[in-house]
Amino acid sequence: MSKNDLTEKPIGFFDSGVGGLSVMKKAMEILPNEDYIYFGDSKNAPYGIKTVEEVKELSFNATEFLLSKRAKAVVVACNTATSAAIEDLRKVYSEIPIIGIEPALKPAVELNKKGKIVIMATPMTLAEKKFNKLMNKYNENTDIYPLPCAGLVEFIEKGTLSGEELSNFLEDKFSHLEKKEIASVVLGCTHYPFVKDEIKKVLGEDVSIIDGSEGTAKELKRRLQERNLLRKGRRIGTVEIYNSFDNEEIIELCYKLLK
Ligand code: DGL
Repeated sequence: MSKNDLTEKPIGFFDSGVGGLSVMKKAMEILPNEDYIYFGDSKNAPYGIKTVEEVKELSFNATEFLLSKRAKAVVVACNTATSAAIEDLRKVYSEIPIIGIEPALKPAVELNKKGKIVIMATPMTLAEKKFNKLMNKYNENTDIYPLPCAGLVEFIEKGTLSGEELSNFLEDKFSHLEKKEIASVVLGCTHYPFVKDEIKKVLGEDVSIIDGSEGTAKELKRRLQERNLLRKGRRIGTVEIYNSFDNEEIIELCYKLLK
């Protein structure tokens, strides 16, 4: 096997912090033989309340880091960074597949349930044109309710995935909505799947909760297949995790979230 065999190189993932691990975890299920490199920019989290220009710059830095680790493809495992930077990243790094993530509105619409579809995401994701385009596509026959959730990412970054403070925060977020009118909730931020159980506790079992990790992992597979970049070996792949906070605790949290 030559050292330059592209298929042997790892797949890079990045996010503003630990959230993108929810997407990488799915990819590891679908593509278990690939090697993975993850970069979490926890030092600069949350991205969702920064300016678009700041998030673009941070996204380029993260991509450069992953390329320095020989990534054969980059997954922007962050809805916020995808809305701010994916077009520019694809222009600059046209030689490799760059896969993004957006709120999984389509599967929520396809459930065809009566009631509101609530989209939980960061203020930037909901304000950017990528989301507004997506919303306009489905808005006509569907009751879509964007719910900006500034402050939620911070709980997950601290490793707080349950407890009173979190459930009070969620109760408060949903307090102006009639819970029985909610058909489904789309988790439009890759951090949120880690608190899915808490969201369920607040909204009840009948509400469907959907995230985009599976769609993104499948898209990654398709894009690698298209360019003949899938790893051919049969051994189980490796995982390397990096974070802009260079401390043990955050890396430990990452491995805990991947379990
Ligand atoms: N995981 C990021 C996303 O999917 C969180 C953004 C943030 O850091 O605010 O949007």
